[in-house]
Amino acid sequence: MNKLWSGRFRGRTEKAVEAFTESVSFDARLWRHDIEGSIAHVTMLGRQKIISKKDAGRIIKGLRAIKKDIQEGAFSFRESLEDVHMNIEQELIRRIGPVGGKIHTARSRNDQVALDLRLYLRDEISAVLGLIEVLQRELLAVAENHIGCIMPGYTHLQRAQPVLLSHHLLAYYEMLERDRGRYEDCLKRTNVMPLGSAALSGTTLPIDRAYVAELLEFPAVSENSIDAVSDRDFAIEFIAASGMLMTHLSRLAEEFILWNSEEFGFIELPDAFTTGSSIMPQKKNPDVLELTRGKAGRVYGNLMAVLAMMKALPLAYNRDMQEDKERVFDTADTVRACLDVLARMLPGVRFRKDALERATVSGFLTATDIAEYLVRKGMPFREAHGVTGKIVRHCIDQGKILGGLTLKEMKGFSRRIEKDIFHYIDVKTSIGERQSYGGTSRKAVLSRIRKIKKMKKRK
Ligand code: ARG
Repeated sequence: MNKLWSGRFRGRTEKAVEAFTESVSFDARLWRHDIEGSIAHVTMLGRQKIISKKDAGRIIKGLRAIKKDIQEGAFSFRESLEDVHMNIEQELIRRIGPVGGKIHTARSRNDQVALDLRLYLRDEISAVLGLIEVLQRELLAVAENHIGCIMPGYTHLQRAQPVLLSHHLLAYYEMLERDRGRYEDCLKRTNVMPLGSAALSGTTLPIDRAYVAELLEFPAVSENSIDAVSDRDFAIEFIAASGMLMTHLSRLAEEFILWNSEEFGFIELPDAFTTGSSIMPQKKNPDVLELTRGKAGRVYGNLMAVLAMMKALPLAYNRDMQEDKERVFDTADTVRACLDVLARMLPGVRFRKDALERATVSGFLTATDIAEYLVRKGMPFREAHGVTGKIVRHCIDQGKILGGLTLKEMKGFSRRIEKDIFHYIDVKTSIGERQSYGGTSRKAVLSRIRKIKKMKKRK
């Protein structure tokens, strides 16, 4: 089949070159957006009388028929036609005749592909935002249902201070909230209509770009045709936001992997979300979490690939930019899959309240509380830190926990210590007392939960 651009060529394209340059094997997935964009473009061409209304009608009818066939799997994309754009255009011409060739009036594949990618990402971002919200909802539900559950909070993976499990889990809620913000922000810059920039400099034909933007529900039209066809910032931003999200998901995955281990024993993962070993019959492996953790790497790789691809590219469009698609698609697929599987898994995770609580007994988790007790009695914090350190040392030497010390023993370290110290040594009191804004007290955590719910209701 003759190529649509073959006019100035005498020779045929080498087969290996077709295989090397084609993108339809991966960009075919843009068909829906490609047709949507074309219909808007042709509608505008008709309205502007650049082509007759009758021709526009025939083209649109043809495009709708192609759309239906693709939907029903009755369309085969051909590698020799290079990309999704050419495949659809060529098929249109085959079906309705030379009038189909009017579709590409005042348009180039350079602005067409920019439009398609923006339309596609707009949908993907909305889908990702929806999935983030679902995962947030699940986290919130677990946090609410386990509000009484206490556990050690960690720094350096060493037991540090007692916290509410809900507070720990809601930390992920906050990360996801920032992720949402990043995607929403990225959406603003994705939601700019590039069509009409044509190859790079605009067109001599009297197009109406604002009308196309209106048809496609773009709140903005690109301001510079050279920029519009050479800009992939929005794609990079999408992958960067996704990389950050994957960092968060990988941290959650890693913690659950640890918590699910025999060593921690804090949670039990649902059978439906674990896998067995082909050799060790006793194994129940957290593969879903491991894969989530591992897939963060591929999204970072995607980001590096697109950044490196765009770096130092001369303006405007360069074919290098075709390489963006697989990285963008892979990122969207990866992020969506990870968010979805985690949200499905979360309600089935069993938190072992006893084990979590038991882990708060040793590790001197309320040492800071003793220091703050002494501060309240007038001692400078540095000094209080030193005194408490000595108490801890004493406990280690004697094989005791803080709660196992007598008042007399403690008074030996500071006269300021009174009977009420035992109140502060208790882990539950310790948590309850952390009422500073954003702290782990039940009061503070419940107040955050209420605020979140109010926010959600307002939306
Ligand atoms: N398949 C190309 C891409 O993905 C479409 C744009 C091609 N434009 C061109 N002048 N070769 O970037």
